[in-house]
Amino acid sequence: MRALVARRLDGPDALELIETAVPEPAAGQVRIKVAATAVNPVDLAVSAGKVVQFGLTGGRDQFGLGWDVAGTIDSIGPGSDLEPGTPVIGLADLLGRPLKTHAEYVVLDADAVAPAPHNVDLTHASTIALNALTALQALEALQLSQQQTVLITGAAGGVGGYAVELAKHFGLTVIASAAAEDEDLVQRLGADRFVSRADDLSAAVRKIVPAGVDGLVDAAVLGVAAQEAVRNQGGHAHVQGGPTPPHLRGIRVVQIFVHANRAELTELVQLTEAGAISTRVADTYALEDAVAAYKRLAKGGVRGRLVLVP
Ligand SMILES: NC(=O)c1ccc[n+]([C@@H]2O[C@H](COP(=O)([O-])OP(=O)(O)OC[C@H]3O[C@@H](n4cnc5c(N)ncnc54)[C@H](OP(=O)(O)O)[C@@H]3O)[C@@H](O)[C@H]2O)c1
Repeated sequence: MRALVARRLDGPDALELIETAVPEPAAGQVRIKVAATAVNPVDLAVSAGKVVQFGLTGGRDQFGLGWDVAGTIDSIGPGSDLEPGTPVIGLADLLGRPLKTHAEYVVLDADAVAPAPHNVDLTHASTIALNALTALQALEALQLSQQQTVLITGAAGGVGGYAVELAKHFGLTVIASAAAEDEDLVQRLGADRFVSRADDLSAAVRKIVPAGVDGLVDAAVLGVAAQEAVRNQGGHAHVQGGPTPPHLRGIRVVQIFVHANRAELTELVQLTEAGAISTRVADTYALEDAVAAYKRLAKGGVRGRLVLVP
């Protein structure tokens, strides 16, 4: 099979599409014939060697790329409960695997996979797992109750867009920050109030909620500049590795590292089928054109995901 890998951690131009053996599922695993696999900012980070900060390079000469996948189960290991032929979505949540989802086949733990939604095609379905799970796990970590307020930065992006939709679904009041030209998009996703990213964020938010918001999903990774909009002893979900922002004013800062599990993937599939969350595809690329997709994502401004179709 063909698989996209990074052997030199030097950005998209150093990526290689290799020929390699089709991987075999072990006990508790399934093999997916990949129909579609989204390109996400973490893939750019891995290709550029940012995984080095996690100490992952030792002994590794190859990093697989790709976290999100949709496809069809094609083989199962002993003890796996999903039937071959089942359309699924899944998440490859380990950073340092030599082969991941940007490939023709991928092996995942059965718990990292759930039957795909019936109402969207597999290209759209491949955009759900990474970003909707991250948004869900960030909101869960904030432990907010209905009618409390949440600020979501980067609200037009993958994580931020799902955070807006999920927060509305959970009955929260949503203030969303994004570029002025994204106001309509973010309001369609369900934001109650919009703040342009060109404005002083905390001043603009505190005009709406003078004491500050109860929680923050900082999908644009603005750090303290966004935390300033949170009330004393509120919550701040930080979605990047490395050092976390300070816990100023008793604010609980939670560092989110997305993790796959069947129960939450299934919940997200059901929410997709119910129309509570939506899928957005900006464009599709053949696997052999992956570098062009990576470079387009790196330029910024993409709305919806770029998806590789092997
Ligand atoms: N920790 C985890 O487990 C985890 C999981 C998934 C993602 N992440 C991280 O979460 C972050 C967001 O991922 P994503 O997939 O949502 O990225 P994305 O789709 O590129 O969205 C980020 C959004 O933020 C916007 N933005 C940039 N600066 C902003 C500002 N000052 N104010 C408001 N919006 C701003 C971007 O606009 P432009 O495109 O115009 O710049 C873009 O719309 C990334 O850093 C990613 O690596 C972490």
